[in-house]
Parts: sequence; structure tokens; C-alpha cells
Amino acid sequence: HPGAQRFVPDTRDLDALASAAAGCRGCDLYRDAERTVFGDGGPHARILFVGEQPGNEEDLAGEPFVGPAGHLFDKALDRAGIDRETVYVTNAVKHFRFDRSANGRRRIHRKPTGAQIAACRPWLEAELDAVRPEIVVCLGATAAQSLLGKDFKLTRHRGEVLRLPDELRGSCDPAVVVTVHPSAVLRARSQRDDAFRAFVQDLKRAAAL
Ligand code: URA
Ligand code: SF4
Repeated sequence: HPGAQRFVPDTRDLDALASAAAGCRGCDLYRDAERTVFGDGGPHARILFVGEQPGNEEDLAGEPFVGPAGHLFDKALDRAGIDRETVYVTNAVKHFRFDRSANGRRRIHRKPTGAQIAACRPWLEAELDAVRPEIVVCLGATAAQSLLGKDFKLTRHRGEVLRLPDELRGSCDPAVVVTVHPSAVLRARSQRDDAFRAFVQDLKRAAAL
């Protein structure tokens, strides 16, 4: 599995990219997941959001951020005054990575490896090249790792306005900001309201760039 590059067609048409991604075998993850979950949204959106990977519900629906994390994300976008119809939403990794629960019934999320993140990056680069956003928001460490390097420390750079490294700056040079993953807000439990407010603040600040 030398990565997704050989599956990426020479086009910047998002529908054509999505169709091609459906047949990607750039890493092992296509084997157990139901489908490739490609990005979704405005073809020339001003803001492009990058999550980690599809979850259980996204894998079944074929669309990014439609499960519990997606609901929280929708609520935060709404609170930040950002219309989800005007943004593009995708993931660093396009297939769901999971373990089976002991009884085999539940599929439990597993973080993608660095190798899987790297294998899938060509799809994300193609999406950046097609959408050419002004602003990229990394939702969590996996997205930041994919776009800003594997040693990137999210907590240290949260709120800063960053740029993509030279090798990822194709036809666009967006401002890049990092924030937490919506799942981290869901996990915050007793501090969930504070975590949600901080997340909304980050989204507002990004949209105002
Ligand atoms: N978490 C993600 O990172 N992406 C999704 O699409 C859903 C959950
Ligand atoms: Fe291809 Fe990415 Fe799926 Fe791996 S996770 S098979 S690189 S689309």
C-alpha cells in the first residue's frame, strides 16, 4: 500500500475525486470499512474544516460529521454564525478505523496511525487544491498532524494563525487554525459547557480572519 497518490485522478472536480476515492486502496483501511467518506460542501467554500476520520455513522451514511460529533459540530457552527452550507467539511483519513467489541456487535473507534494519515493525505491535498479555501480549520490533533507535521502540538498552537508548509501549498495559501475535535468537547463531561464555548470562540475567530 504505497498510499493514495496513485488513485488520485488528474482533475480538481470534486465529484470526480469523490468517485475515484471510492475505489482507493492506498492503505488497509478500505478492507473493513463500509465505504470511503469523502469531503462534502461548497466547491469553492471560504472555510475548509478537517476532522480525523469518519465514525460509525459516517461510515454507514457515506457523509462526514453526521453522527454525535457531527451534531455538536453543527450546533457550534450555528452558534458561531457559520452556515454549514457555505463551508467544506472533510477528514484527514477517509475510511473508518475501528475495533470490534467483544461480542462483535459494536464498532469502536480507533485512532488512525501516522502511516494511514500519510497514506490518505493525497486526497486532502486534492481537496485543498480543488476548493482553494481562504481558511483551513483543523479539528483536533489528527488533522493538524496531517497538515502541519507529526510533531505538531495542538495545545501549544491553539488560536494561532498558521500557514501550510511549503510542500502542501499548491494553488492556495490559506490561513490555518487549529482547535479541538468536537468529540473532545463531548468527552469534556463536567466542563462540557466551557469546552463548547471555547470551541465556538475558535470557530468565530477563524471565520473572522
Ligand atoms: N469525527 C471525525 O473526525 N469526522 C467525522 O466525519 C465524524 C466524526
Ligand atoms: Fe485510501 Fe485513505 Fe481509505 Fe486508506 S483511508 S484506503 S488511503 S481513502
